[in-house]
Amino acid sequence: MTIKLAVLASGRGSNFQAILQSILKNELDATIKALISDNKDAKALTIAKENNIPTFYIPYDKNNRIEFEKKAIEIIDSYSCDLIILAGFMRILTSFFVKYYENKILNIHPSLLPAFKGLDAQKQALLYGVKITGCSVHIVTENLDDGPILAQRAVPVYDNDTVESLSQRILEQEHILYVEAIKIYEKKYIDGRRQKT
Ligand code: GRF
Repeated sequence: MTIKLAVLASGRGSNFQAILQSILKNELDATIKALISDNKDAKALTIAKENNIPTFYIPYDKNNRIEFEKKAIEIIDSYSCDLIILAGFMRILTSFFVKYYENKILNIHPSLLPAFKGLDAQKQALLYGVKITGCSVHIVTENLDDGPILAQRAVPVYDNDTVESLSQRILEQEHILYVEAIKIYEKKYIDGRRQKT
């Protein structure tokens, strides 16, 4: 079955691009139905347009987060998406959205969770002095960077690392990991669901 994805991204969009590339190379049996962003200047929007993926910019109001989420739900449901991919989406989703799509939202985080949750995970790892960090893809629950972990990749930390060099080394693994995690999700959650019906 071709899994239908909706991607939420706020910025550069390199994870989104990596997923898209693996679909185009027939390595991942999926289709990206919509790219939604809260940032009208997100590079992710440009990448999507260049690849004929429908794009949606929804302004984000911190004082009315549900408004953004309701609009996103309308779009996602209009394409009957199976799974929502957070790829550098820099907003925290409310329990309204998370409950609506229970077990159907994935996030990537640049650390080996449960270590270094929240912002600047790579900097947190450097400051702590860990020798190994990495990236994790997990199912989104109501708590930030929490929820069942689907897949992880480890990355060494070198003595001369800067936040930039470490982030770059982790990012290369993120691009591989997200595709792996979507395949794992499909086996575990979507195939399972199908067998029950
Ligand atoms: C990645 O490091 C991801 O782990 C974090 O935000 C960054 C997004 O990068 N959640 P990109 O927009 O996918 O290039």
